[in-house]
Amino acid sequence: MDSIEKLSSAAQDYLSRVAKEAEAKFDEHLPPVTDRPCRLHEAMRYSMFAGGKRLRPGLAKAAFDMFGGKGDKIWLATSALEMLHTFSLIHDDLPCVDNDDFRRGKPTSHKKFGEATAVMAGDALCIQAFELMGRAGNAKAIEVLARLLGTYGMIGGEMTDIECEGKEVNLEIVDYIHYHKTAALIEASLLVGALLAGASEGDMEIIRNYGKSIGLAFQIVDDILDIVSTTEELGKDAGSDIEKGKATYPSIVGLEKSRERAKELYEESIRALDALPYDTQILRAIAAFIITRVK
Ligand code: IPE
Ligand code: IPE
Ligand code: MG
Ligand code: MG
Ligand code: MG
Repeated sequence: MDSIEKLSSAAQDYLSRVAKEAEAKFDEHLPPVTDRPCRLHEAMRYSMFAGGKRLRPGLAKAAFDMFGGKGDKIWLATSALEMLHTFSLIHDDLPCVDNDDFRRGKPTSHKKFGEATAVMAGDALCIQAFELMGRAGNAKAIEVLARLLGTYGMIGGEMTDIECEGKEVNLEIVDYIHYHKTAALIEASLLVGALLAGASEGDMEIIRNYGKSIGLAFQIVDDILDIVSTTEELGKDAGSDIEKGKATYPSIVGLEKSRERAKELYEESIRALDALPYDTQILRAIAAFIITRVK
């Protein structure tokens, strides 16, 4: 069996390959800066093209291919997913939310364009994403995505994250926050890829469980990196969680137990994949990348 490091490096190669193709489509799917309102379109493109791991497009494409999906519609979904993710980052960084200055190695949207433009760039990316999903032509995929992003998903998690700042919380609440603010979009990316490929209900359930495990692991590692890494390395403000008294895994169980939990979740995610009669190599590799990543 391949080591976690080897799997992780295979995942990084895969993600960069998908990123290349996906980014060419972002350019097609985003409004040109020459169209009015030019400044808004500039801000949307600034954040979309600032870099990033392109994990959500990678997960959607991997699920789509694994379940035998054919055709180009997946690229509408990969653009939509990265737009939704970028929208969440722009709003997450706002002064009224996490108040951060750096994202993807550059000044945050509000630092560069001002708050009003940043709010609207996020709004416009979110709405544009659903237009693209409409073009992909799968009503269930739109429903699943909206559900996992709204008040019962990502927004619910972001809201609770803010409400819990500076408060004593238990692990049950942190799990709620992390499953919602982060794992939900990761799960949605896999489900959208699976739905566009026509996966069965049973297969969707398995991929959902894999998504929940890697999604929670992803946010635990994000919490750890906020403590052990630097702003230069991360391309975003390190130490931001402690400064704001955020409810994180390390703040409750410490770094070592957080690392152990991430590893357990990795193992759970692999066990979920074991039930699928397909080539799950890429998804295994991505799970390994999630727990070993350094940014
Ligand atoms: C950052 O996501 C926000 C979280 C959910 C923790 P990523 O770490 O995937 O950010 P990019 O896309 O690579 O910039
Ligand atoms: C953000 O969690 C999750 C979303 C953006 C929905 P964090 O606030 O921990 O993400 P970073 O650390 O700013 O990327
Ligand atoms: Mg936040
Ligand atoms: Mg943040
Ligand atoms: Mg964080």
